[in-house]
Amino acid sequence: MLGVGGYVPPRVWKNDDLKELMDTSDEWIVQRTGIRQRHWSEVDKDTSDLAVEACHAALADAAVDKSDIDMIVLGTLSPDHEFPGTACFLQAKLGMPGIPALDIRQQCTGFIYGLAIADQFIRSGTYQKIMVVGAETHSRGLDRTTRGRDVAVLFGDGAGAAILGATDVSDPSSDPHVLTTHLHADGSHAKELWIPADGMGLHTYERIQADHLEKGLQYPHMNGKTVFTHAVRRMPEALHEALGATGRRLEDVDLFVLHQANLRINEMVARQMKIPEEKVFNTIDRFANTTAASIPLGLVEARKAGKLQPGMLVAMAAFGSGFTWASALVRW
Ligand code: UT7
Repeated sequence: MLGVGGYVPPRVWKNDDLKELMDTSDEWIVQRTGIRQRHWSEVDKDTSDLAVEACHAALADAAVDKSDIDMIVLGTLSPDHEFPGTACFLQAKLGMPGIPALDIRQQCTGFIYGLAIADQFIRSGTYQKIMVVGAETHSRGLDRTTRGRDVAVLFGDGAGAAILGATDVSDPSSDPHVLTTHLHADGSHAKELWIPADGMGLHTYERIQADHLEKGLQYPHMNGKTVFTHAVRRMPEALHEALGATGRRLEDVDLFVLHQANLRINEMVARQMKIPEEKVFNTIDRFANTTAASIPLGLVEARKAGKLQPGMLVAMAAFGSGFTWASALVRW
């Protein structure tokens, strides 16, 4: 990972600010999720615009010129348009024509899926440098009324990017590299967290139906308790899988950068696995759940806070809609 960059839009919505829109309270949100605020974009910014900012920051951090990038991989569940993919819009805005631009629709696990894809293309020798991005504009896709409050308070806008590059590893205990990635999905739970009515799966030729709009089916719907239960099981499993595959012990990991869905989920994962609290880096209090952006933003913020140093072994894990879950181990 040659460099990382992040971006969140300037407008902050504190929990109490949400009372303008819905019946909720700071106490409810903090107690159940650990979220204190989120950044929500102004209406003139799209997901690809947030991604542009993160990519510029990552390129600068890596000291890599955009002309050296061989591929763009972007995870998002809040695309600019249903098609073409947001990676294409991002590519045009960055002025990088010709290279492949791939969208990943793996929600909260999108960044680790992207990392795994980039890692495989680089290991195979196909490409030398790949930009992996996670970006979300949730604010325009949420039901920001009391009806949708169980979901709306959880999500924030933001983007994070990493530049992956081919490297020679002579000493795996110190040379920066991606050690391993592990990807999973179980589509039998697809409807536990989804948008019911936006897509071609409606068994009608009517593209948009008035009663769907009335029922709010164009917004995310979640069975929160089921998602929670699976998250606290799958993230430890994926982390153990990455450790097992590389012969590392839990104690070898210096920092855990986990997806930020709910502070209580990460606390429970840490407790179950006996990970010391100070080794888990959380941003959810400030950014809420930024889905595909949460892990790269976590890397950026951990480094800013002095918690991520060269040579550290970093474990990442995510769980989300699909269900999808994944893990990665990276020597920083
Ligand atoms: O990125 C992956 C995706 N998401 C997740 O991983 C989320 C996983 N799930 C969770 O984090 C939790 O299930 C939530 C935080 C979403 C909800 O917590 P909960 O303890 O499961 O609460 P609940 O759904 O049982 O709701 C309890 C009450 C309900 O009221 P009644 O029916 O008990 O009177 C809700 O109507 O809280 C009410 N409620 C709210 N009250 C104030 C729901 N949302 C809100 C709200 N403000 N925003």
